[in-house]
Amino acid sequence: MGHNNAGDTLREWRESALYWEKHSDIIRTMLGPLTQALIEEAGIGPGQSVLDVAGGAGEPSLTIARVVGLAGSVMCTDAVLEMVAAAENAAQQLGIKNIRFRQCTADSLPFENNSFDTVVSRLGAMFFPNPLLAIREMLRVIRPGGAISLTVWHKSEVNPFAYCVTDVMNRYIETPPADPDAPGAFRFAERGKLASVLTDAGARDVSEMLLKFRMEAPVSAEEFWNMRSETSETLRQKLGQLC
Ligand SMILES: C[S@@+](CC[C@H](N)C(=O)[O-])C[C@H]1O[C@@H](n2cnc3c(N)ncnc32)[C@H](O)[C@@H]1O
Repeated sequence: MGHNNAGDTLREWRESALYWEKHSDIIRTMLGPLTQALIEEAGIGPGQSVLDVAGGAGEPSLTIARVVGLAGSVMCTDAVLEMVAAAENAAQQLGIKNIRFRQCTADSLPFENNSFDTVVSRLGAMFFPNPLLAIREMLRVIRPGGAISLTVWHKSEVNPFAYCVTDVMNRYIETPPADPDAPGAFRFAERGKLASVLTDAGARDVSEMLLKFRMEAPVSAEEFWNMRSETSETLRQKLGQLC
């Protein structure tokens, strides 16, 4: 997505929420390797209390809830109420009990200092209007020695999930280059950029890894297209212009 301001970003996510809920099973499968990497990097295990920031329609919260078990807990948060409601529905359907939900923005977390063992965010940090403030908040709410584990996209040109569709679309619709410092999917594509925000926020032992993974899900090309085009506000908008 290419965004201008915080209000636009949240409006776009609100409009996307029903599609993220509709396609949540495919997304869970496709992005499973990212969830596993977050869990492994943060050392998440049974009994831990984990905060998920920008948890969308419920991941990685739902998977982590199973990993931490009944002795642990997950707090799933998102700025968009419709996303939080989708996550709550999913937890109910899956019978997951050790999870709670809260609508809040990343830069103003409604939790006490030292409340969690770990904070995670899967594909969320690039959309925060003020990532430095958001990371400071994450550091405030984890206990001393706790971990923060984040995933963001690397460059779009090495990401066929992105370029297969956008390269074709750009042949027909003019797309101005994205402001590299505005909220958007590839804002932290440059290596070291997100890590330096963590360091500036006061995090210690910051490390970064490039995770190469295959996105796989048992879906037809048509199902893939429906999911891909519906969950992206930018694509929905561009496709609307082509009609
Ligand atoms: C790409 S989705 C990722 C959702 C989920 N973590 C996943 O991986 O399926 C980005 C999420 O960030 C949320 N978001 C955007 N800006 C936010 C903010 N300032 N604070 C918290 N969440 C935000 C959106 O509502 C959306 O659910």
